[in-house]
Amino acid sequence: MKLLEPLDINGMVLPNRIAVPAMVTRLSGEDGFVNDDIVDRYRRYAEGEVGLIVVEAMAIHRSKSGPLLRISHDDFIEGHRRLAAAVHEASDSKVVPQIIHFMKVARSGWRQRIEDLSAGDIESIIEDFGLAALRAREAGYDGVELHSAHAYTLSSFLSRRNRRKDAYSGRTLEGRLAMFGRVMAEVRRRVGDDFPVGIRFLAEEAIKDGYTVDEAKRIALRMAQAGVDYISLSVGGKFEDAVHREGQPLYPYTGYSGDRCMPGNWYPGLPHAHLAAEIKGFINAKGYHPPVISVGKIADPVDAERLLAEGKADIIGMARQLLADPDWPKKVRQDRADRIVRCIYCNVCKQLDENFREVHCFLWPKGARQAPADDPDGAAPQWPEDGAALAAAVDGGQVRLAWKAADGVIGYDVYRSEDGGPATVAEAVKSTRHVDRTVLGGLTYTYYVRAFDAHGNAGPPSEAVTVEMPLPEGLPFREAADVR
Ligand SMILES: Cc1cc2nc3c(=O)[nH]c(=O)nc-3n(C[C@H](O)[C@H](O)[C@H](O)COP(=O)(O)O)c2cc1C
Ligand code: SF4
Repeated sequence: MKLLEPLDINGMVLPNRIAVPAMVTRLSGEDGFVNDDIVDRYRRYAEGEVGLIVVEAMAIHRSKSGPLLRISHDDFIEGHRRLAAAVHEASDSKVVPQIIHFMKVARSGWRQRIEDLSAGDIESIIEDFGLAALRAREAGYDGVELHSAHAYTLSSFLSRRNRRKDAYSGRTLEGRLAMFGRVMAEVRRRVGDDFPVGIRFLAEEAIKDGYTVDEAKRIALRMAQAGVDYISLSVGGKFEDAVHREGQPLYPYTGYSGDRCMPGNWYPGLPHAHLAAEIKGFINAKGYHPPVISVGKIADPVDAERLLAEGKADIIGMARQLLADPDWPKKVRQDRADRIVRCIYCNVCKQLDENFREVHCFLWPKGARQAPADDPDGAAPQWPEDGAALAAAVDGGQVRLAWKAADGVIGYDVYRSEDGGPATVAEAVKSTRHVDRTVLGGLTYTYYVRAFDAHGNAGPPSEAVTVEMPLPEGLPFREAADVR
């Protein structure tokens, strides 16, 4: 499998092509120091054999914020050294920190903008990036990732909404790229050529007047020309369309661009894979080959392998799926993909982040601060002797399902097939009930349920039930033509 082949990124050899992109954990205190919970979170990914582990965004500067990791002073190096060592002890996984500069925000909804930055402010941001990258090297990380995505400072320079009028002018693409160029030069000067420097930026801003993949291709080309060692893509997550909650600082994932950044369960799978493919194709055709990380609702090993085999990505990024089950790579390698705990894209983790609460997965056992340990020999949950007694009732425009509890479960996958098509997981729930509100009158739906435990062991399917959804009364109805 290409997915499991090693990949050399400027001397950093990934054991496979699977990456966990940065995900804020809110496990650190406001002091920003690495603590045991943080170390445990990243060791867990290493135990699961994730090829590239990107440690959550950490501040390069002193600005006040909620619980957030920091790398803004030499005092923080020791904690990061512990984190990097824990990952290296656990497996061959490689680990890089994502370093971030962000602007000030206030509870009133006010936010500082890049247009407010003086020439002196810009110089100190550039210097801070260089120093933070150097600290990453000193801490024993395998490389460093510049956060140039979402609502944050570097991304705002790249944005089509950049309104500066100086050397960093938003009027030209070159002007928008100028800050990246200066930061990259400074980071290289500090860490040297033999230390991998990756970057994360937006394949699409997903806001009104924001840039699209058309410009993202050229931005990626410049980044490749400037010697970035890998490009990790994301989408959206901007302040411009964020919804302000009274008394709270703006959270950049509350508008449409936030939905696009962390697409929920109503989005189809792989909504952004075509963007990574287009960007990779463009820079490769120009003779540049920094590995491109594709991300966004990739969860199935078959999809992941296909993206690599078709040349649409070099590395598969999975954030929420690997949070739900950090053992995904190990299970795939050991031919136990059927034991993967599937992320259901409920975005409970996102809501925790938004509320400055410790980020965990809805599917973990109650109270767990880390994903449960892998249990390859664990027994799958079983239905009671008389079965699951799955029942379905049509109630207006919805189908109500109920079934009996199985032993030792953490939740239930509800499978649905529409009009005899393939059965896919429609929802995962923790109770023994589910209401399906996305059915269409005139079509036939078949359901069954499987219980799963905290380790991904899934029990046998329940009996199946089929319902025919009635059409609304009085609706004019034309018979379908023959299906060809
Ligand atoms: C709780 C949470 C925290 C996140 N924190 C970061 C972050 O620190 N830096 C970043 O670039 N992206 C962050 N993201 C975005 C993810 O890296 C990823 O791009 C997004 O979740 C889509 O990928 P997925 O569909 O595989 O989850 C975060 C996402 C979540 C759910
Ligand atoms: S909380 Fe929901 S979206 Fe987040 S990782 Fe768990 S299942 Fe996925």
